Amino acid sequence: MNTSHRPAPLLAPSFLAADFANLQAETERLANSAADWLHCDVMDGRFVPNISFGIPVLQAIHRHAQQPLDVHLMIEEPQHYLAAFRDAGAANLTVHYEACPHLHRVIQQIKSLGCRAGVALNPHTPVWVLEDIAADLDLVCVMSVNPGFGGQSFIPNTLRKVAALKELLVDCGSRALIEIDGGVTLDNAAALVQAGADVLVAGSFVFHSTDPVATLAEMRDSLAVALTSDLD
Ligand code: DX5
Ligand code: ZN
Repeated sequence: MNTSHRPAPLLAPSFLAADFANLQAETERLANSAADWLHCDVMDGRFVPNISFGIPVLQAIHRHAQQPLDVHLMIEEPQHYLAAFRDAGAANLTVHYEACPHLHRVIQQIKSLGCRAGVALNPHTPVWVLEDIAADLDLVCVMSVNPGFGGQSFIPNTLRKVAALKELLVDCGSRALIEIDGGVTLDNAAALVQAGADVLVAGSFVFHSTDPVATLAEMRDSLAVALTSDLD
């Protein structure tokens, strides 16, 4: 595959796997790392069977962050909280397709707040449901695990799904980035990028490693090698 025009994928470590007792240190040590975005998982215990953190914690991370906050809202009725998350420091706001019966309105709302607008798809949700909204999106987050928990195994069907999504975005004239979230490691990162992924979220693989900054550098470097060898 010729990837000569493919920009380097963005890396977004997920704070769900960070040490919540040391969020300032966790945020600051990523300042000069290969992290492009800081992925923040908001869970409400209703849309997903888990509760993580919300607006005050996001504000605290934002105070120490050097990179844009990529906020993944795993919550019901996200439309009520978008402005508050923007004010707390979100650069990207991603809502779930499955949580938004009026998705078009929510996307317009996010854009009017000046944030990048993203939609996340659960593993069972086919990519074609985005056909009529793809051109309005800045980001599509493909869940490669069932949302709600870190540390789960990558669902292999994601690779097929990413390729199908890439095709759909091209057909719709959409410039949306494809983000993959869940179970991302060095074992699947290159294949995901080759299938069309632009942004890789990694929680446990980064924060549970002995040196998260070194792990991010290793991801960036190994992806560069994999993508360069594609040109051969
Ligand atoms: C899952 C979250 C993910 C999670 C990924 O609901 O959306 O962002 O933090 O964690 P890992 O990389 O450990 O699967
Ligand atoms: Zn996430």
